[in-house]
Amino acid sequence: MGPTLLAIESSCDETSASVIENGKVLNNIVATQSVHENYGGVVPELASRAHQQNIVPVVSQALQNTGIKRSDLDAIAYTQGPGLLGALLVGASFAKSMAYSLDIPLIAVNHMQAHILAHFIDKPRPRFPFLCLTVSGGHTQIVLVNDFLEMKIIGQTVDDAVGEAFDKSAKLMGLPYPGGPLVDKYAKLGDPLKYSFPDSEVPGLDFSFSGIKTAFLYFLRDEIKKDGDFIKNNLHDICASLQRSLIDMLMSRLIRASDQLKIKVIAIAGGVSANSGLRDTLELEAEKRQWQVHIPEFQYCTDNAAMIAMAAHYQYLERKFSPLDISPNPRMKFGNV
Ligand code: KG4
Ligand code: ZN
Repeated sequence: MGPTLLAIESSCDETSASVIENGKVLNNIVATQSVHENYGGVVPELASRAHQQNIVPVVSQALQNTGIKRSDLDAIAYTQGPGLLGALLVGASFAKSMAYSLDIPLIAVNHMQAHILAHFIDKPRPRFPFLCLTVSGGHTQIVLVNDFLEMKIIGQTVDDAVGEAFDKSAKLMGLPYPGGPLVDKYAKLGDPLKYSFPDSEVPGLDFSFSGIKTAFLYFLRDEIKKDGDFIKNNLHDICASLQRSLIDMLMSRLIRASDQLKIKVIAIAGGVSANSGLRDTLELEAEKRQWQVHIPEFQYCTDNAAMIAMAAHYQYLERKFSPLDISPNPRMKFGNV
């Protein structure tokens, strides 16, 4: 019998807890913080406070609904980073206190590696080695995944993350935070070829999204000068065109990486992998290029503790435990686990 673990995720604006038994995720309780909607982005101070309010009920619910007792747990896992310091501190302090009081090991998990390991929650699981396009509000990476805990970033954004490009562009159109899902929703109703926004070519497998953000700002400004109701009258076409341009930028590097490394097992992870346009485009490319594509279930795309639990399972098997004096690492890189 494998280990029974409790995992906690608190890196940004989702407080989440999950129980995993012998590599099988039993549940995934997520409390989303709606308080940020009014501010056009996550307010770190408010996120920390909301985590403080949510963490006890979320953990209690995760344990209660499996019938697993605290004394059954073999270790406590939590997100060490990357993320917002104050938000990470809440999960870290809670996890440490629990591990200390139960006298069981503590497992510090890298949030970005966990996004990728979400692919091992359900079947079919990707075969190693595979490439994972990890796209979230804070990161845009192409990762070569050689094994559960052996991963290497081979391409990444040199400035903004693609989720940020979605959210900031949405904000310019007056849409509430997070704008990514709304752009996705309106894009389904619009013409993706009506407008086009330039790709900022950076060498190799890296990405840059600051150029498209500025181009989008100037585009809206110029069009609004001609028609004060431009956004309202063309919202669907603008969203569809913006989304297509962002997806094209992601896909061009992913295709390049697959060609260069001759790897045809491709996965996507992170919040933006919930995007329906990206999922459809990936399926189409898969047919064209004989790729074997892995797309996570919606609940495991955005931040969740089930992915932390999955990562913790593999760390437990390798006895990768952490001392109790470890601190959160807001800029945690790969290989720190
Ligand atoms: O992974 P995640 O939940 O949190 C971070 O670690 O950043 O990702 C959040 C990001 C936000 O930028 C949000 O707008 C974006 O994922 N997102 C989407 C969609 N759903 C979430 N972007 C585009 N289309 C979606 N359907
Ligand atoms: Zn995330």
